Amino acid sequence: MASVGREARRTRTCPWWLMAFVDDRVRALVQPTAPVLASLVAPGHACLDVGCGMGYFTVPLPRLVGPSGQVIAVDVQPRMLQGGARRLEREGLADRVSLYLATQSDWVRPEHYDFILAFWMLHEVPDRQGFLATLRQVLKPRGHFLLVEPRIHVGERLWRESLALAEAVGFHSRETRPVRFSRAALLR
Ligand SMILES: C[S@@+](CC[C@H](N)C(=O)[O-])C[C@H]1O[C@@H](n2cnc3c(N)ncnc32)[C@H](O)[C@@H]1O
Repeated sequence: MASVGREARRTRTCPWWLMAFVDDRVRALVQPTAPVLASLVAPGHACLDVGCGMGYFTVPLPRLVGPSGQVIAVDVQPRMLQGGARRLEREGLADRVSLYLATQSDWVRPEHYDFILAFWMLHEVPDRQGFLATLRQVLKPRGHFLLVEPRIHVGERLWRESLALAEAVGFHSRETRPVRFSRAALLR
C-alpha cells in the first residue's frame, strides 16, 4: 500500500508544439482512438478527459455520448486547450465540449463522471496521489477510470507506484488494457 502524504516530484509537462506535431501527422495511424474507448463510453455518459492536450481523445467523445451526454476536457496549459478548441471547431463539435484550465474548479463535480480518461499525463503530475484523490471524488460509484501511461517515460516501477497510489485513494484495478506503446489499467 502506498504511503499517504503530499508528493512533490519534479516533473515536466509535454510541450504544446510536440502534441500538435504528433497528433496531426502520425497518431491516427499508430494509435487509433476507437479501440481505446471501445465499450467504455455510452450514450448519455458524462466524460472527463483530463490532461486532454490538443484533444486527440476529446474529439471522438461527444459523438460517443450523443446529445444527452456531456464531455469535459481539462488541461494545465492554455495552448493545449486552444489547440483542442480549434480541433473541435473544425469538427463542428465546439458546443458539445466544455474546456477548462485545471486550476478552474468548474470540472470538479463530486460523483459526476461515468468515465474518466487520463491518457499519458499522470507522470507529469507532481502530486499524483492528490490528483488521483480528486479523480476518485468526481467519478460516479459505478464509473470507470482509464489510466494510460507511455512506456517510454513510465517504467514498471513508476507504473506500479501509480497503481498503488490509485489504490490508496480508493480505486480498484479491474483489468489491464492493451494500448499501443502504453501501460494501461481500467480502474473503478
Ligand atoms: C503527453 S500530453 C497527452 C495529452 C492527451 N491526453 C493525449 O493523449 O493526446 C499530457 C498533457 O497533460 C497535461 N497535464 C499535465 N499535468 C496536468 C494536470 N495536473 N492537470 C491537467 N492536465 C495536465 C499537459 O499539459 C499535457 O497537455
